[in-house]
Amino acid sequence: MRVLVTGATGFTGGWLARHLANAGDTVRALVRHVSQDRVGRLLDAGAEVAIGDLGDARSLEVACHQIEVVYHIAAMYRMAGQGAAAYRDVNVEGTRRLLEAAQTAGVRRIVHCSTGGVHGHVERPPATEDAPLAPGDIYQETKLEGERVARAWGEAGRLEVVVARPIGIYGPGDTRFLKLFRGIARRRLPMLGNGGVFYHLTYVADLVEGFRLCGTVPAAVGRTYLLAGPRYTTLRELVALIASELGVDPPRLALPVWPVWLAGALCELVCVPLRIEPPLYRRRVEFYTKSRAFDASRARRELGFNPNVDLEDGIHRTTVWYREQGML
Ligand SMILES: NC(=O)c1ccc[n+]([C@@H]2O[C@H](COP(=O)([O-])OP(=O)(O)OC[C@H]3O[C@@H](n4cnc5c(N)ncnc54)[C@H](OP(=O)(O)O)[C@@H]3O)[C@@H](O)[C@H]2O)c1
Repeated sequence: MRVLVTGATGFTGGWLARHLANAGDTVRALVRHVSQDRVGRLLDAGAEVAIGDLGDARSLEVACHQIEVVYHIAAMYRMAGQGAAAYRDVNVEGTRRLLEAAQTAGVRRIVHCSTGGVHGHVERPPATEDAPLAPGDIYQETKLEGERVARAWGEAGRLEVVVARPIGIYGPGDTRFLKLFRGIARRRLPMLGNGGVFYHLTYVADLVEGFRLCGTVPAAVGRTYLLAGPRYTTLRELVALIASELGVDPPRLALPVWPVWLAGALCELVCVPLRIEPPLYRRRVEFYTKSRAFDASRARRELGFNPNVDLEDGIHRTTVWYREQGML
């Protein structure tokens, strides 16, 4: 199969491009600059590279030439200092430009990567694909708009569309969860509240196989799938598992949530108009208050999705990588 992967210089897209190449696909990777370090790894894996940007429709048409399946992984993901318009331009309009280019080029299917974050705080865990949609910030809002644009394209019969909503992607190459691992390793992670909210992680190798299934299983057309790891835990349990892997005691001190949340709101109020990155912001506090627990049984049943890297093993592999990189 000839496939295009957007976001291939990123964590997940890079894993996916290599996974698909190993599985025998002819992979083209959309990259913004050839000079990026990660491009070398893509070329080593046998991928070809197309220079392009979701903001540049013409580059997307060229990238889609003779492609059968597009895996749309690229997104603007919580970048400091970016306003709502920038998120919308990449996550919504960029998706629209890519869909147009794909249709023009005769692409058969697009796997659109959304996020489980479109469900926001999960009131009744575990959430299925039909749980309420409650995006909590501009990133999640524009991810939801992007998935709606993609789904509408599919419903209009313009392309086969499959929407994937990954949950908490971790593994070697990720640096988002580094803050958590490092905070625990250095015994500087503040625990807010009782740690009883749920947290759900998905090991990246399991996830990219889920994407491949979305791109290949005939019955997936028009469907939306949560792609989540084998189990969720409370935040307290997750922190304890990471602490045990790192050989340290889990944090004992627990601070009350709301004073810290208020301090975050104040920091945002002062810093954001001045375009300064706030030292504390509400989303960081919400890490301790929002429950994320998902039910991936639709993907298991319909796609044969079988995430089998358990949490202890995934945490171990991730820790080994952080250590090799000298990050911990
Ligand atoms: N990480 C998670 O826990 C998580 C959870 C749920 C869903 N997701 C979704 O999974 C996907 C991948 O996430 P990730 O963590 O792997 O992200 P990442 O490492 O930040 O990678 C983002 C990728 O998007 C590319 N990109 C951004 N703007 C672009 C543009 N205008 N044109 C072309 N490419 C552009 C980046 O290119 P450059 O390298 O040039 O910047 C990079 O390759 C995203 O769609 C995200 O919303 C992530």
